[in-house]
Parts: sequence; structure tokens; C-alpha cells
Amino acid sequence: MYLGIDLGTSAVKTVLVDDAQRVIASESRLLATASPQSGYYEQDPAQWIDATFATLDALKASHADALAAVRGIGLSGQMHGATLLDSSLRPLRPCILWNDGRAAAECRILEQRWPALRAVTGNKAMAGFTAPKLLWIATHESEIFAATKLVLLPKAYLRLVLSGEAIEDVSDASGSLWLDAARRDWSDAALAATGLSRDHMPRLVEGCAPATTLRSELARRWGMARPPIIAGGAGDNPAGAVGIGAIEPGTAFVSLGTSGALLAPTNRIAANPDRVVHTFCHAIPGMWIQAGAILSAASCLAWAARLFGVTEAELLAPLGARPQAPSPVSFLPYLAGERTPHDDPAVRGMLDGLSHGTDRGEIVQAVLEGVAFALADCRDVLADAGIAIAEADVIGGGSRSPYWLAVLAGVLNIPIHRFAGGETGAAFGAARLGRLAVTGEAIAAVCTRPQRVETFEPDAGLADAYAERLPAWRELYRPRH
Ligand code: XUL
Repeated sequence: MYLGIDLGTSAVKTVLVDDAQRVIASESRLLATASPQSGYYEQDPAQWIDATFATLDALKASHADALAAVRGIGLSGQMHGATLLDSSLRPLRPCILWNDGRAAAECRILEQRWPALRAVTGNKAMAGFTAPKLLWIATHESEIFAATKLVLLPKAYLRLVLSGEAIEDVSDASGSLWLDAARRDWSDAALAATGLSRDHMPRLVEGCAPATTLRSELARRWGMARPPIIAGGAGDNPAGAVGIGAIEPGTAFVSLGTSGALLAPTNRIAANPDRVVHTFCHAIPGMWIQAGAILSAASCLAWAARLFGVTEAELLAPLGARPQAPSPVSFLPYLAGERTPHDDPAVRGMLDGLSHGTDRGEIVQAVLEGVAFALADCRDVLADAGIAIAEADVIGGGSRSPYWLAVLAGVLNIPIHRFAGGETGAAFGAARLGRLAVTGEAIAAVCTRPQRVETFEPDAGLADAYAERLPAWRELYRPRH
């Protein structure tokens, strides 16, 4: 029996997976995000711990025997967040999240100080990444910077509480801008450029390697006879890849979570930082992931539901099965700024083409189309890096909407495949990493491709109409920096 824990942005999801890779139970607890200023996003790390413990306590109540049999735990997490700890390993301030845009100026300083940054990390310095946040802290909260003894990504903080050890996996670490992506190790030059050293960093492991074990008092709390092994785990996107067996070239997929991404596993680095392609180590040794990442995807739908005062399901139901033609309204999904392709934390969203006749359905359709157009931008920058995508799987909460997937197939003009249970992807992938850390089985034997339950073929007429609309949609973007 294995546990996968995904410390996401909107929730912590924990899945219990048996030896036949069946999810036998899952629990999730919502997380709150504070936005103290426009473009600032923070979470209290204590909340992650309470939510994680609540999922495990609930599993103990409902599946005590299965939980007692857990041998391995995998962690997945929202990437890039800066959790700063003092010498007693207590958080010094709320974690600054992946979608926080406050460190834009610090990105320019970082690239000037360390001109090799793009070549070594495979990434452009962007505000959401961890290193520029530390420069921001050094300038604006210098006492906190001086008191910082350890910098952890969110799931490494969770692992510290679960195990007592500061350990990070290389996939999540690649979102920090402190990792040498080719060597899969911290870069001393990168750390020095932010006034830090390896002493401030956790130990690194591969995602499927055993990292540590659960504290014995926690193992007892959850009724486990022996403390389970905790694997390296992965950032949420690489963990999602492991969950759907995207562990070799040619297995591109779309993630429609709070954020969105178009991700392509590769067996070599195919970086394109100038056009804001992200380079991550995969959770599988010797593999990388090249990705276009957008900051708002399913969160745009959540925003529209809040705006209209209805649930997301109520918003989607009147749209029917699939669109007949593009909405007359256009939407830019830049509600939290954007990474790929603009790297513009200051830009904001937009609705264009409103008239007296505009109804709710046209706006909701435009929101779904706007996210799909943003993913078309991701497709184009990946193509520019030599990665052509002929079909894609889709994971994340947004994959529950067939309408949205029909839009995506039309906009990207490729078949889009959906799995059963796609929305538990990252947690399931984490559980697989937990299993690999325990058993040392062949990776391909565990990370199999799940059954696709549905394929959305692009409708030729709709694909043409979207291709015609895309240039005008792109014209709506005006840089604000
Ligand atoms: C990826 C990214 C997000 C976060 C939160 O670069 O910022 O996907 O990992 O999900």
C-alpha cells in the first residue's frame, strides 16, 4: 500500500493506492491563499500541515487497515514557493507562492549578476521562481533575510515536518533557479548570486529515490506498524507526468489545474528560455520536462463562477457538449500576470468584444477559449525549441469538462485524450514515486499509461475558425512593464 500526497495551491489531496495501483481512497482539504496586494500571493505553511494531517486522520478513520499497511509515501507539491525557516526551523513569514509577481525587478538584477543563469538553469529569471523572491526579501525584509537559515519549497517543508529532514527532489528544485539542470545539482554560482550557499538548501535526491522515513510518532498516530519510506517525490507537474506514465519523449500533456501547462518529457535539455519555455528535471532520472506554463487556467473558471454567483457546474451546463463557433467575446486569462510566452507579472486579464447582446454563456465560452489560446502560445514556443506536439493527454480539474476539452482540441488542432480520474494525477504520480522508492522496480513497469477513456478529435471547421481568431486574440496583449 502506498500514499501520494499532493500539496496543491487550492487543496491538499492524499490518495491511498494498493499494490495493483488502484486508488482505494482519497481525501482532500481546501487551502486558502492570501493576496495582501494585487499580484502578491501567500500561504501560511501551518495550513499545509493541518490540511495534510486532516487528510491522513480521515483516512485512518475510514481505511485504518489499508493505512496501516502503507510502505511508501510520495510527495508532490505546488512548485517555486519560498518557505523561509529560522535556526529553529520555524517559518519566518508566509510562503510566497509560484504565482506571486512582486519580484519582477529582482529578476533583472539576478540576470545581470549572473549572466550564465539561462544557460545553466535552462530557465529565464521570472518573478514566480524562488531565487528572485529571496532577492526581494533581502531588499524589502532584510531582517527576515538575515534570519533565514533554510529555504524550502512547499513540499520540502511538509517533508521536514513529516520526517525531521530537509530534502528536496531535483524536479521541484529546478523551479528554484538555483539548480544546474544538466548536472541535477545545486549551482553554487546561482546561490551566490542571491547571497546564499548550499548550507541554506536541502539535500537533493531523485524523485523515485528513497529520501527518508516518516517520524515514528506520526507512524503510530496513523496506525502504521513500521515508519514508511518517503520518496523524493516531484513538483506537481512532473508528478502528474509520472501519474499518467509520461516518462518518455512523445508523451506531451496538458495540465488544467489552478495553473495550466503544456508539458513535453524529453531525454535531453531542449531549453528555450528566451521565449519562456520552462526547463524542469523530470522525476525520472535522465529525463527532463520542457513546458509552457500559464499562471491561470482552471482558476479562470473559478473566477467566472464567483463573478456570476453560481457553481462551475452551473456555469458549464448551459454550454452544451461542444462549441459551434468561437465566442464573439475574447478573454485574456492573465488574472495573475503571465509567464509563457510574455513573462509579464504586471499584465492583467481582459474581456474584449462585449455588446448589449452579450450573455453569460458567451463570456464563459470566451474564458475557456482564452485559456486554450494561451496554451496555443505554449505550443508555439515549444515548437520553436524543436518539440512538435501531435496529440496530448490532459490532467487536472479542468479535464472534467468535455466542453473545455473540445475547445482545446479545436484551438490546438490536435486530438486530446482524457483519463478516468485525471483530476487525482499529481497525487497518484506521487504514490507511484513512493512505491518505486520502496521496491526499486523497473520505472516503466510501474509508470504505465492509464486507460484513455475519451478522445476529443478537433472539429475541422472549428479548428479553422480558431486558427483565424488566434492572431486577433494575440493582438489584445499590451505589455505593462
Ligand atoms: C509551474 C507552476 C505551477 C505550480 C502550481 O511552473 O508554477 O504549475 O507548480 O501548480
